[in-house]
Amino acid sequence: MAKRKNVKSGKKPGTPLEKAAAEYREQPVQKDATEEMTAEISAAEPKVTEVAADEPSTAKIVEDSPAVAKETCVPPRRSVAFIGSECYPFVKTGGLGDVMYALPKELAKQNCDVKVILPRYKCIPWEYQTKMIFRGGFQMDLCADGRSFHVAIMEYVWDGVVYDFIDNEEFFSYGNPYTNLIDDIPRFCYFAKAALAALNYMDWIPDIIHCHDWQAALVPVYLRTQFVQTKLTTAKTILTIHNLRFQGIYDIPTIRYWSGLPDYVFNMGALKVGDRDANMLKGGLAYANFITTVSQTYAEEIQCAYYGETLDSHLRYHSGKLRGIVNGIDCDIWNPSTDARLYKNYDISNVLDKKKENKHRLQEELGLVQGDNKFVIGLISRLTNQKGLDLVNMILPQVMDEHTQFIVLGTGDRVYEDSFRYYENAYTGNVCSNIMYDETRAHRIYAGADALLVPSQFEPCGLTQLIAMHYGTIPIVRETGGLKDTVEPYNMYSNRGNGFTFDRYDAGLLLDAINRAKILYFEHRRCWDEMVQRDMDKNLSWENSAKQYRDLYLDLTR
Ligand code: ADP
Ligand code: GLC
Repeated sequence: MAKRKNVKSGKKPGTPLEKAAAEYREQPVQKDATEEMTAEISAAEPKVTEVAADEPSTAKIVEDSPAVAKETCVPPRRSVAFIGSECYPFVKTGGLGDVMYALPKELAKQNCDVKVILPRYKCIPWEYQTKMIFRGGFQMDLCADGRSFHVAIMEYVWDGVVYDFIDNEEFFSYGNPYTNLIDDIPRFCYFAKAALAALNYMDWIPDIIHCHDWQAALVPVYLRTQFVQTKLTTAKTILTIHNLRFQGIYDIPTIRYWSGLPDYVFNMGALKVGDRDANMLKGGLAYANFITTVSQTYAEEIQCAYYGETLDSHLRYHSGKLRGIVNGIDCDIWNPSTDARLYKNYDISNVLDKKKENKHRLQEELGLVQGDNKFVIGLISRLTNQKGLDLVNMILPQVMDEHTQFIVLGTGDRVYEDSFRYYENAYTGNVCSNIMYDETRAHRIYAGADALLVPSQFEPCGLTQLIAMHYGTIPIVRETGGLKDTVEPYNMYSNRGNGFTFDRYDAGLLLDAINRAKILYFEHRRCWDEMVQRDMDKNLSWENSAKQYRDLYLDLTR
């Protein structure tokens, strides 16, 4: 599956959408205030040209009565609309998909009324497409020249969460969620506005609108401009940064055309960057009522130049409304005792035996030399430079010896895919490079490997180290972002800790961390086994973090 891209495409305008944008760029910029107001009102009240197929099926919002809350000790109910570009199991390219599934589900358990709004991509598996119900459709003004597009809403209810898919053939008919910016900028302008227009159309006015990453970052901007005169204006917005590297940057005329947003948002305090570009994430950060990111350490790191991806000063300016809340994992999906994808299920009481069986079967499936006495290191990742793969490439020959095996699962940049293929050839029977996206294989590697490598250059949170720990697989990580917050370094004197860590982005330090892991594994197996059980015992569920989000929702809507 394609990874999130953030590069400008050199493609010439070819499709009708691109041509329209190119034509518009030639036109004068300024509009008068009356014209702007008319456009805003027409967008706020979308013209309905079709009739809803059925009545709204979302659960009723329970009244926020302090007396009831006190009596039952249940916090007051809040309604939340999640808006983002991917969500497991419909579409997932990385951790954002996991979070968009697991967090709403946990919030629903904690007395929140949650709706998730997603694009209806063609690649969503048929089994889900067929279960969606048509909720209605309307025509929506989008572009600066008044060009309008159809918005259809397809609904699917599952596990207490309502999923509303925004359907439009023109924008979401390609296979994958992300292609290149020339296509992605228009589609996510459309998506952000259509998500709000759909809420308006369904007359579902949430207390909180919780947006995720640059693809949904224009939502707070639209809400405070073109939707100020709608009922939605009472909602508070939160923008969560899952990865600051992706920001949705393009030239101002293109983004102005496609978004139809008023000129005044293209200023240095909001969308404008440099002399001529607009940055969708930056605008969202300025307009959101609150900003979160997915770990405390990353929340601090992104305010410094090294991790700030040029937005560090903007984030420092908004630091009063910025907080880190660490991710969790969905313990129904990621549960070694029930996981149907594993060769053998296990729990903390029999992990030491059953993990060996999983390892054996994994080696067999992947064509590796079989044996308990091999130290198996796994790596499950998008293959991009964020993930510290340059370090791995530098030291792999020094890691490989007769007692070590290395399994990689991932897709991404050609340079990394090819280098891992090269290592598979160079170390036949001991290195296996799975250049693919495969959920089942991922589960089996989490269960069958002894250690999991996450040497990232930066890591907002990281879920693979959490899943690994939950499966009794020891993480070897760089101390950055969420990796630092979730993996306590092993201390040989106190025999405590959850994994092996290193601080600076340096190949020698990574090698040292791997060697420390090997020494514990081969020479102090009892301590290693204790760490395996300690890691499985760690509470990594969403419960605590979802509570923090819920408290934030309450604070913002008191
Ligand atoms: P990121 O979101 O930066 O990609 P995370 O660690 O937060 O990193 O999440 C990655 C998620 O994607 C995990 O659920 C991981 O198991 C999954 N994943 C990554 N690559 C693959 C792959 N090739 N096949 C299957 N699952 C993958
Ligand atoms: C991003 C980050 C990753 C994080 C995930 C979910 O893709 O790279 O660190 O775990 O989002 O929040």
